[in-house]
Amino acid sequence: MESLESKTRFCFVALLLISLVWSQLPSSSAQQQHEPNPTIRTMEDFSGYPIHEPGQFGSVSLASSLSVDAPGLQKQIEELSSFSDAPSPSVTRVLYTDKDVLARRYVKTLMTLAGLSVREDAVGNIFGKWDGSEPSLPAVATGSHIDAIPYSGKYDGVVGVLGAIEAINVLKRSGFKPKRSLEIILFTSEEPTRFGISCLGSRLLAGSKELAEALKTRVVDGQNVSFIEAAKSAGYAEDEDEDFSSVFLKKGSYFAFIELHIEQGPILEDEGLDIGVVTAIAAPASIKVEFEGNGGHAGAVLMPYRNDAGLAAAELALAVEKHVLESESIDTVGTVGILELHPGAINSIPSKSHLEIDTRDIDEARRNTVIKKIQESAYTIARKRKVKLTEFKIVNQDPPALSDKLVIKKMAEASTELNLSHKMMISRAYHDSLFMARISPMGMIFIPCYKGYSHKPEEYSSPEDMSNGVKVLSLTLAKLSID
Ligand code: GLV
Ligand code: MN
Ligand code: MN
Repeated sequence: MESLESKTRFCFVALLLISLVWSQLPSSSAQQQHEPNPTIRTMEDFSGYPIHEPGQFGSVSLASSLSVDAPGLQKQIEELSSFSDAPSPSVTRVLYTDKDVLARRYVKTLMTLAGLSVREDAVGNIFGKWDGSEPSLPAVATGSHIDAIPYSGKYDGVVGVLGAIEAINVLKRSGFKPKRSLEIILFTSEEPTRFGISCLGSRLLAGSKELAEALKTRVVDGQNVSFIEAAKSAGYAEDEDEDFSSVFLKKGSYFAFIELHIEQGPILEDEGLDIGVVTAIAAPASIKVEFEGNGGHAGAVLMPYRNDAGLAAAELALAVEKHVLESESIDTVGTVGILELHPGAINSIPSKSHLEIDTRDIDEARRNTVIKKIQESAYTIARKRKVKLTEFKIVNQDPPALSDKLVIKKMAEASTELNLSHKMMISRAYHDSLFMARISPMGMIFIPCYKGYSHKPEEYSSPEDMSNGVKVLSLTLAKLSID
């Protein structure tokens, strides 16, 4: 027994001596690489989180160290939804209104708390940047929108903004340090609610001269408030010579752009999948139409003598449905989302009608055929009903966008490394990504939402699904930032 104890003591002393002698030998370069850098050790002691140099952190080990504050994110979603002009659970947040300005302030505060440097452009696109170790390289960007159409929900767009801020926090907590800078973008007015133009901020970022010109000279809202006036009231477009070209970004400004979004469709939930990797975004178009007739007294003007602008609008709405169905593809859709009658009195024959038509398809040519047929119907109906077709304006007729192959690969790899099931899918809704694809390689990450509901108050995505999306976003950003 005693001899065993003395043998153990001898071994221990011998090991100690060997390690002391070893530590005095000049260290090899491989050893030097593993020696902790004293600055990093101090930072680790200070922050309580492990700090890793760019590229040092294998993405598989990074995947296991990503932890999302899901309750915190859910709380922020609720808080942001309180900046609304509709009672909860509905959300209405329209561009440059007081509620929009308050919501923007809330997001800027969160960006600052995340340690990002914040800037805004002339139309209120908001950028929050985390400088990488090589800030001269094109950054990797992510983001979405926070405006909400009338009586919609809390998650559309918002998940891609608050989720992006949380993704940065997740990476910071994990100790990751990017090589390329990471930048979050809050896009101005993805929804067309106020000025009838969708993806206003991202369209401009992508360099639309036509839009810049229109915003400066002729765009007004339903109350005849000009875009410039509205922007100024929210603290933007303050320069008298503003021509909005200052908003344009050069192609190549970003190494990649990724948007996190709720699916807005039922596929992921139905198939029990965690993540959708978006490969393409369908081609959207919108059209404004106005008819004018003589109006008159609802009792006194007999039926043969009427030219009812309201009935012309109703007939055109049915024609939209007919032409969409004639395509015989499930991918062609058309909606008359706005139909207004003037003067809007029960006992007055409508003298004016105004329609706004939305039509989309993954096949651009097929979508364009529908637009042509709608236009032909508008002329035919006007002739038949003896009303004037005073406006037929194609507001936008955008091509579809394809996601970038490298970005798709990174998003899919990230999902696999996080043990999340995923599938490739197309986006039938449009997004700011449609326009970011014009200036940057683009990709989108979808998460399931309850029954696919969107653009209505019942819109919902669970904290777990949001947390999965944030993780995939963090890991994809990390992978691209060290590429
Ligand atoms: C975006 O909100 C869309 O209508 O697709
Ligand atoms: Mn939307
Ligand atoms: Mn959206």
